[in-house]
Amino acid sequence: MRAKGAEMPGKDCVKVAVRVRPFNKRERDAGGRCIISMASSIITIQDPRNSQSPRSFCFDYAYWSHSGFTRDCSGLYVPEEPGGRYADQGSVFQDLGEGILENALQGYNATLLAYGQTGSGKSYSMVGYGPNKGLVPTLCDKLFQAIRANQDSRQCQVFFSMLEIYNEQVVDLLSRGSRSPGGLRVREEQQRGFYVEALRRVPCDSAPQVEQLMEQGTRMRTTATTHMNANSSRSHMLIILQLKQIFSEESITKQSNINLVDLAGSERQRVSGSEADRLKEGTAINLSLTTLGNVISALADVAVGKKVVHIPYRDSVLTKLLQSALGGNSRTVMIAALSPADICYEESISTLRYAERAKRIQNRAVVNESPTERLVKELKAENARLLQRLSRLGQEGRRAEDETKELRRLLTHNELQIRAIQTLWEQHLQEALKDWEQQYATITQERRMMQMHPYILNINEDTQLSGVVKLFIQEGEWDIGLSDSSPRSISIRGLGIQERHAVFINVQRRVYLTPLAGSNVIVNGTPISQKTELQHLDRLILGSNSTYLFIGYPSERGGDDWSRYDYDYFQSELAAAEGINLHSLCDSSAVPSQTDPSLLAVFYDYIKLMPMVAEANQMSQELHKGVEFKLEIKNLALSDSKGHDLEKEIAVRVTSLENKQVWLWSKAKFVNRKFLMEELYQQHHTERKGEGAARAPMPRDRDPFWDPLEPLLLGSAHLWLQSLAFRIALEEQLEVLGSEGTEEAILQAQLLPCSHTGLTLGEDDILIDPSELLGKRLDFQLVLDQCCGLRWVQQARNRGVQIGFRMFDSAQPLYTPAVWHNVNPLLDQRVHFTSLHTSQGLLEHLQTSALVLELWGLQEGCRDLVSSLEGVRMTPEGCFIIDHAGATETATTVDPGSELSCSLRALQQDVEELRNTNAALKTENNTLRDQLNTTRTGAEWGRGRSERRGSSLRPSCDAEFARALKVFYHSMTSVRVQLQRLRRHRPSEESDLLGLRLFVDEQGGLLRDFSELLEQSVSSLKQDVAAIVRRKRERSGIWS
Ligand SMILES: Nc1ncnc2c1ncn2[C@@H]1O[C@H](COP(=O)(O)OP(=O)(O)OP(=O)(O)O)[C@@H](O)[C@H]1O
Ligand SMILES: [Mg+2]
Repeated sequence: MRAKGAEMPGKDCVKVAVRVRPFNKRERDAGGRCIISMASSIITIQDPRNSQSPRSFCFDYAYWSHSGFTRDCSGLYVPEEPGGRYADQGSVFQDLGEGILENALQGYNATLLAYGQTGSGKSYSMVGYGPNKGLVPTLCDKLFQAIRANQDSRQCQVFFSMLEIYNEQVVDLLSRGSRSPGGLRVREEQQRGFYVEALRRVPCDSAPQVEQLMEQGTRMRTTATTHMNANSSRSHMLIILQLKQIFSEESITKQSNINLVDLAGSERQRVSGSEADRLKEGTAINLSLTTLGNVISALADVAVGKKVVHIPYRDSVLTKLLQSALGGNSRTVMIAALSPADICYEESISTLRYAERAKRIQNRAVVNESPTERLVKELKAENARLLQRLSRLGQEGRRAEDETKELRRLLTHNELQIRAIQTLWEQHLQEALKDWEQQYATITQERRMMQMHPYILNINEDTQLSGVVKLFIQEGEWDIGLSDSSPRSISIRGLGIQERHAVFINVQRRVYLTPLAGSNVIVNGTPISQKTELQHLDRLILGSNSTYLFIGYPSERGGDDWSRYDYDYFQSELAAAEGINLHSLCDSSAVPSQTDPSLLAVFYDYIKLMPMVAEANQMSQELHKGVEFKLEIKNLALSDSKGHDLEKEIAVRVTSLENKQVWLWSKAKFVNRKFLMEELYQQHHTERKGEGAARAPMPRDRDPFWDPLEPLLLGSAHLWLQSLAFRIALEEQLEVLGSEGTEEAILQAQLLPCSHTGLTLGEDDILIDPSELLGKRLDFQLVLDQCCGLRWVQQARNRGVQIGFRMFDSAQPLYTPAVWHNVNPLLDQRVHFTSLHTSQGLLEHLQTSALVLELWGLQEGCRDLVSSLEGVRMTPEGCFIIDHAGATETATTVDPGSELSCSLRALQQDVEELRNTNAALKTENNTLRDQLNTTRTGAEWGRGRSERRGSSLRPSCDAEFARALKVFYHSMTSVRVQLQRLRRHRPSEESDLLGLRLFVDEQGGLLRDFSELLEQSVSSLKQDVAAIVRRKRERSGIWS
């Protein structure tokens, strides 16, 4: 379906098209739901978490490329049936490409931008894949057709340039010289605006020539001098086509620039406020994209009449180069690429909002006249004047001979200049064609080799860059590595690649790979150390992360589909070898299509970060930074007071190899740092090659590998609060579990219901019905006795720990004082909490939640965690007041000196005295009741006083029932502890078969204990109740 919207007001508004692609493998695996729908040019997106609020947007064009297509025999994706709704590459070109071509032929500048998150289909629309050619190659094809069709009326010249903007540096993708450090310069001229200085412009006169240049550029992008795995998701690719049309008869020249921009992936860096990186400010990551957003926003505001003081074109390289495309002299089209899947909702809605702003931008396009042509015109005019004067001089005779000579010299000079201007193009074109023929011969040669020899094929994170490099393994022995010194070496670059990395041997049509000492070679997910025979379609990882697919001899190839071996496949295989797969992350009974999307996201985060961690480790090693990075899957259930077990998160553990200091970085922080590390690493290489002046060593606080030491969250334990709701004391040995399920320590803790003064309550104060607490004061103490078996300190004695916790609605967490150098430190901490008026909220919390006790690790040189008392309310005796909802009347923020506080203290003393009197009276009352009971038991056998007896016996039965219930609640606490133990019991990551058997035995034992405890508790409750009922019946029989 290709739908065209209503014509936008004003001719030069930026036109916006939206295109939605088919599901990719990840989305299919996740059982993804399509949340995008289209009707005409209206596109609707559904929030997967809120079915009530679909959002609709209207654009100039909307393309449905999600479903309803089939692949024809030539590999083209076409609609299933003629006139079907699927929008193929052809129909997108018809709407967008032809308009651009027409504009360019008329002499307007034109720009096409592709925007969208990584993998949303930008490159598919712009460049295309295989036979499904995108807008750029088709546009070139049609352009040269048009040029040929019009060659009688005009002479045309086309110049092609291709560049990449990566980290604010401009790289010429067609340049054959060495890359200038820092990239090419962007300059500004009054007439031209911003332009890239010394950018190569290749004259072209056919579409195949342009295609070959694009291939060359893509190859350059893949193997560019950067040592990183090229990743176009973070760089912008710009193709500039300059079209010059010379209309000799009309004596005019039209010139237009066509900018074709494949933008970097638009995903936002989600950094939550608490974990913003110290080095964030210095990062240029996505600066161009952010600035583009700002420019678009400012221009959209201008379009609706808002006052805008400044449009920040100058803030980034990309916006400088696109200045004329945005709000200037250009006809501009933006194609917003969308994923259809529910898991991409956040990104898709942000893309749609971005596109909506872009469509408001108004440009002022004008037809361009070339300054070169003006010069020719001027020279011609001057010549005409000179000729006129010459003829006048001729009429005047010999007297003006000298002047005639001078005039003739000037005339010749001018004519030569005119001819030079006009022949320059021809010369350049001939040179470019010669170059092209050479390249073409290389490509033909490569195709022939592919049909003769086995080879390895590069696989890149960006599909657009995959399969660009082919390295042939001909008969004999071949070294592979950085070195290209011998004719029998295959030279590759990449992080962690050694001078001589490995050896390929091709004998008798069999290919073997042998790693050389100290080099990393992984075949199909497993590291190898010995000579290994390779099979067709084996996956190789060399060094940190150079990924290649091995293609065997043509006879072995068959008709198999290689496309399944993409970058994700390599990384998933590697993760699986480490024991990480979707099943290990979630409940193993869940089928993939029911996998929780958040777990799926964690899995894909893991395989995305895994190669980045390998690269960071390699850079750390080469730069002698002495730190090691490791991925961790954090179980967020550890900090959840209900112990819910679903959420997981990826973190990176950084360990200093020398002194075992440890840091834990969030994913966002690591990604940011990795980018800065790359920058540092590139700089280091440039300096080593002597291309730049060596810099002073980097100050520590700007070093991306370094961070100040901070306390580290090692793990947590859950102390369930239910017993407090019944005023039952609880003593526990809690397992402190690390984020990966390891036992970090055992913590001895108690919860003691107590009086206001801190006296522990006895059995008699146990409640049957927790709601009795409502509105009353509740006091209890948390006692942290000791920590045993601290793994953190076992690993390095110079460490310490603290315990942190936050009770119910306390404003701040509290921390125990730091204890150092001890594996089994005594904590001996007692904290008194008070709820002045127990609220329903607190009661529910006590019955359903746990206090999360966090174990914090301290390292030498890091500051202790300090409890802040800001906003904390306390009683005059120093009890921490919780449950503020219920404590509005009596509680007050502590200000010991205030008058109010003094009178409050006096009042509280009075209340305390009254309470004491009350307690004394209660005791007396109890004694009296006991005496009365004794008298009554003696008299029970008598008859004739049934009425009085009946009424006085009822409380006695209730008391028995209450006692039975108390016993039951007590035993339920142990049952719950056992249940928690069962829940947390998991096999260790490295378990072999024997380990698993042991685990099953232990699990069986735990289950048995659990069911015995449960049975016992229930049956004793039943017995007690039965006995009470029996007794009651007996008694009523006696009484009746
Ligand atoms: N309209 C479409 N029809 C069929 N396949 C598509 C379509 N759009 C995208 N794809 C496929 O989706 C994958 C990702 O597309 P593409 O490489 O264009 O993404 P991208 O937006 O350029 O990503 P990046 O930001 O990483 O460069 C490719 O394998 C491509 O073939
Ligand atoms: Mg791309």
